[in-house]
Amino acid sequence: MVVQLANGVEEIGLDHRDRTNMADVTLRVNGSEKKVSVSPETPLLWVLRDTLELTGTKFGCGAGLCGACTVHADGAPIRSCSTPVSQVSGKNITTIEGLGANGLHVLQQAWIAEEVPQCGYCQSGQIMSAAALLAKTPNPTDEQITQAMNGNLCRCGTYERIRKAIHRAAGNGGAR
Ligand code: FES
Ligand code: FES
Repeated sequence: MVVQLANGVEEIGLDHRDRTNMADVTLRVNGSEKKVSVSPETPLLWVLRDTLELTGTKFGCGAGLCGACTVHADGAPIRSCSTPVSQVSGKNITTIEGLGANGLHVLQQAWIAEEVPQCGYCQSGQIMSAAALLAKTPNPTDEQITQAMNGNLCRCGTYERIRKAIHRAAGNGGAR
């Protein structure tokens, strides 16, 4: 969409700043209830980052293709860049900030031990996808890891270290 600003400048594709179609949406994020006033079409990613200031979730492609924006909705991994906030109203949203509620999640500990990140940009999304995998499959095979992590891209090529860290976390009890 095109937004005409007061100074005559047009901004394109910024639906989340559309002030003409606001509604109150109640979300449960990392265990706390949040009421936000946004356009219902706003991608969840922008509500998390811009409204709730949870900037651990990253913007990559904005089209559901890279996995950088992965969070959980009722435990399932979703692409927050392409999920309208109205679709997750009333669901339990977990972001990287809320994953290790009592200190670092076992996956975060494994990520550190295996020195997984390079630039780090994709890693929140990687960990959220891995956490959803371990919650369902506490001791995944290589094939199950490949399948679950397939949609999370890493330009730095950390895939093998991600695999090792998931195995390490699984050995430490998996989805805690
Ligand atoms: S930013 Fe959401 S999938 Fe790429
Ligand atoms: S660590 Fe750089 S994109 Fe994955």
